[in-house]
Amino acid sequence: MPETYYGDYLKLPKLLDSQTPLSFGSSSPQHDEMLFLVIHQSYELWFKQILFELSSVIGLFNTDNVTEKNLYTCTRRLGRMLTITELFKDHIKVLNTLEPSEFLEFRDHLVPASGFQSLQFRMIEHGLGLKHDARYHEAFVGRLNQEDQKKLANFEAQPNLFQVLDAWLARMPFAETQNYNFWDEYIKSVLTQTEKDQRTLNQNKDKFSKELFKKEQANISQLQKSFTQLLDKKSHDSLVESGQRQFGHKAFINALFIFLYKTEPHMNLPYEVLKTLVHIDENLFLWRQNHRVMAQRMLGSRMGTGGSSGVDYLKKSTYENRLFQDLYQLSGYLVPDKSKPKLPDEILKQLNFQKL
Ligand code: HEM
Repeated sequence: MPETYYGDYLKLPKLLDSQTPLSFGSSSPQHDEMLFLVIHQSYELWFKQILFELSSVIGLFNTDNVTEKNLYTCTRRLGRMLTITELFKDHIKVLNTLEPSEFLEFRDHLVPASGFQSLQFRMIEHGLGLKHDARYHEAFVGRLNQEDQKKLANFEAQPNLFQVLDAWLARMPFAETQNYNFWDEYIKSVLTQTEKDQRTLNQNKDKFSKELFKKEQANISQLQKSFTQLLDKKSHDSLVESGQRQFGHKAFINALFIFLYKTEPHMNLPYEVLKTLVHIDENLFLWRQNHRVMAQRMLGSRMGTGGSSGVDYLKKSTYENRLFQDLYQLSGYLVPDKSKPKLPDEILKQLNFQKL
């Protein structure tokens, strides 16, 4: 077998022959177009790696029994995806060495192409779980060519991370046993705590202004209401229907259990998964923000080359195309350690590696 040669292994002749700035073939070649092209290609390579990790994570979760070993692998791969998304903001920094006037010199060559048409970006959005009809879009699908539309439709017919995670969370066994329902105990202890808060508030009524007293009282009632509703599947389902919640009821409360008992050994990896997803969403949000501000600097109020309303579109897609919003909501249901119910031994044993 011939020995491996660096350039052959990396297919460098092909890779490095793939930068063809359009203006270079015109009467006015633009030096700065090379950077624009290389940055886009770098992103697409990273998108490829993210999709590679993401597909494997979906595959590992998409079974009836996610083993501890597979869970560990998922946390490593999600962690890698997170670290890649960290790089995105630095790519924007490099792009910011391009002046709007320099961009203007080759912009017309690009029309109607745009990152709008990045198939891999759409696959990442869907693969993570952004629902097609819940996302903000200005008919981007129509901007994809027939082949990419087909590829996207096929991809969207496959399970995404949100769906497999929802099923995995829903069947988590720890919160209920034959003799014990954690949630009844949890609500009881939270309500006891809020009643205490109410008593303290009443005892100190004269120390508050009328408005502040009313506000504090309303806060306590709101807290009581939302905790009581937490266990009500019907209320939860109507929140899902109106788009205010994404996970099913079981999955949502089990994710809360993971947040509450993340320090118990068997909850460490599940927590790592959920926490990493929150940070991936955060990084994608920040990338969208940075990209929007960069586009605003480049374009002012011009339309995008892809034909959207430009910066206005990017603002809406930044704020509306968020992922795993339920995981952010969970913080509102956390309580300090002292208010958490003590778990019975039969559950603690399951959550620990050692005998208790
Ligand atoms: C001079 C640099 C850039 C400008 C002025 C710019 C501008 C825009 C604009 C205006 C849009 C909205 C669609 C349209 O009408 O075209 C857009 C979308 C998009 N761009 Fe850029 N962009 C730039 C660089 C990049 C780079 C380097 C990437 C990396 C892949 C990128 C990825 C995207 C993606 C993924 C979208 C779709 C976003 C969504 O639908 O939420 N853009 N861009």
